[in-house]
Amino acid sequence: MTTPVIDTLNTRVTIRTYQDKPVSEEMVQAILGAARRSPTSSNMQTYSIVVVRDPETKKQLAVLAGNQKHVEECPVFFAFCADLHRLEMACALHGEPLVKSLETTLVATVDAALVGMSAQTAVESLGLGAVMIGGMRNHPAEVAALLGLPLGVYVVFGMCVGWPDPINLPAQKPRLPEELVIHYERYDDSDPTPLVQQYDAALAEHYNAQGNNQHAAAWSGPIARRLNGKIRPFLRPTLEKLGFAFD
Ligand SMILES: Cc1cc2nc3c(=O)[nH]c(=O)nc-3n(C[C@H](O)[C@H](O)[C@H](O)COP(=O)(O)O)c2cc1C
Repeated sequence: MTTPVIDTLNTRVTIRTYQDKPVSEEMVQAILGAARRSPTSSNMQTYSIVVVRDPETKKQLAVLAGNQKHVEECPVFFAFCADLHRLEMACALHGEPLVKSLETTLVATVDAALVGMSAQTAVESLGLGAVMIGGMRNHPAEVAALLGLPLGVYVVFGMCVGWPDPINLPAQKPRLPEELVIHYERYDDSDPTPLVQQYDAALAEHYNAQGNNQHAAAWSGPIARRLNGKIRPFLRPTLEKLGFAFD
C-alpha cells in the first residue's frame, strides 16, 4: 500500500550537495507552514525555527558544525530550536515561575525534533533535498550567540535545504533488518548478533559500491569506536548555562 507521503518517505535519501539554484520563499513558507502543524506535547509548542539565508551566518555555522561545507553551500538553512523562553513568558503572565526539569528539556527537544522531521518530509515532497545537522551541538553556546537565541533556547539540530545536484545523487543507505527494530506486542530480546553482522556486510557493500572502501563491520565498527567514550561531554553544563535543566 502506498500514498504520496509514504512514497516520499520510502524514496528519501540525505542530500549534501546542491545545485546553484535558489529555493523560493514560497517553498520555504509552505515547508514551515506544514512543519508548524506537527503534533506538540500538550500543545505547548516548545520550539522555534531560525531560517538562515545570510551567507556569512551560514559560513560561521558551517565552521561551528565542524567544517561541514554543505551548511555554507545550501541556499537555505533551518535551525530547529528547543524553546522554553516563550513558555517562561507565558508563565510570567500569570505570576508563575516555569520550573525547569529534565522533563521540560525533553519536551522541548522532542517538539523541535518532530517539527524538524515534518519539515524534512515537506522539503523532500517538493523535490528538494536536505541533510539534518546534529553538528549544531558541537558548539551550542557559540551557535546560540550567533543566532541571537535568548536564555532557554538551544539548537537541537539544523537542516540544509537545496535542490539536489543530479550528478551527485547518493544511493539509498540500507537500513537495519526489520526484525531488529520492529517488535510486536513485546520486545524480542533474542541475540541480535547474526542480523547485525548481516547488516554490517550489507552496509559495507553499499559503501564499496559508492567507492568508499569500508571494512566488513561497516555499521557496528564505527559505532563501537565512536561510543567508547562520552560524546560531547560539555553538553550538559553548556545547556545548563543556556537555561535547560537535567534533574
Ligand atoms: C538528528 C540528525 C543529525 C544529523 N547530523 C548530521 C550532520 O551533522 N552531518 C551530516 O552530514 N549528516 C547528519 N545527519 C544525517 C545522517 O548521517 C543520515 O540521516 C544517516 O547517515 C542515514 O542516511 P540517509 O538519511 O541518507 O538514509 C543527521 C541525521 C539526523 C537524524
